[in-house]
Amino acid sequence: MNDISKAGTFKLGDRTVKRLGYGAMQLAGPGVFGPPKDRDAALAVLREAVKSGVDHIDTSDFYGPHITNLIIREALHPYPENLTIVTKISARRGADASWIPAMSPKELTQAVHDNLRNLGLDVIEVVNLRSMHGLHGPAEGSLEPQLNTLAELQRQGLVRHIGMSNVTPTQVAQGRGIADIVCVQNQYNIAHREDDALIDELAADGIAYVPFFPLGGFTPLQSSTLAGVAKKLDATPMQVALAWLLQRSPNILLIPGTSSVGHLRENLAAADLKLPADEIEVLNGIADEAKAA
Ligand SMILES: NC(=O)c1ccc[n+]([C@@H]2O[C@H](COP(=O)([O-])OP(=O)(O)OC[C@H]3O[C@@H](n4cnc5c(N)ncnc54)[C@H](OP(=O)(O)O)[C@@H]3O)[C@@H](O)[C@H]2O)c1
Repeated sequence: MNDISKAGTFKLGDRTVKRLGYGAMQLAGPGVFGPPKDRDAALAVLREAVKSGVDHIDTSDFYGPHITNLIIREALHPYPENLTIVTKISARRGADASWIPAMSPKELTQAVHDNLRNLGLDVIEVVNLRSMHGLHGPAEGSLEPQLNTLAELQRQGLVRHIGMSNVTPTQVAQGRGIADIVCVQNQYNIAHREDDALIDELAADGIAYVPFFPLGGFTPLQSSTLAGVAKKLDATPMQVALAWLLQRSPNILLIPGTSSVGHLRENLAAADLKLPADEIEVLNGIADEAKAA
């Protein structure tokens, strides 16, 4: 088993977590809806993650819905003291698996209570407000009422820290004026780098940036440049994509998702991979290739 602490740590709220974590979205059924094909395999992935040293798991009660959280609870409760579970709220699922905005104070409050109950927690370490102004990417619009609701839930002691997800830099600035924002979770990876400036700004202020789709999401990254560098370094393309993120900025915390123990081990082994500067230069061309494609 590799030592994932080689990838380093970063502050998330008032905890220090390892930079290699795990995203649990892939544990629900197809389309993140309904039960997984193999529940035992899902439980095994979570247990293997924690056994391998993962102390940061990302989830939501709208995965399934409810199913992913219930699987996390079954696999890991009572939770190790150092395990930080981060959830996100502000959507619900339609009967047809659709993602429906649920951003009213009542819906947000209900979502926090649903996460607490299904995860078996008294307080959630970090709750990300996932903006639904845009479904597939950040879109401008005030998040003030939603953040005020989360701040109230924080005052009640149900939420320890607040983060934001799928947000624009303007919304992050708005959020930081209302609450202490401890992390931002947006789509970002070697081929999708819209948040470069935001990452640097957050790093300067000690705020974690947690890229979702670090491996490209439902259709993992495919690039001959990535494959070429991986071959040279005797690594896999997914390991190189993760190592690139680790080297991109010290405030980046990784939550790659997988439903497979084999892929989990492969991803965690990225902690051992150091990318030489000249290969990083080559990899930095991938985002432009992706834009031109
Ligand atoms: N805030 C948001 O709006 C938002 C949106 C999406 C996701 N998220 C969070 O971000 C986390 C990560 O995103 P994600 O899971 O959607 O995408 P991802 O980590 O970029 O990639 C997951 C995909 O890559 C595959 N994969 C994983 N490891 C692999 C490997 N070593 N070799 C080949 N394929 C591999 C997985 O399939 P297998 O299952 O077959 O390994 C799955 O299809 C999620 O789990 C979730 O917690 C947040």
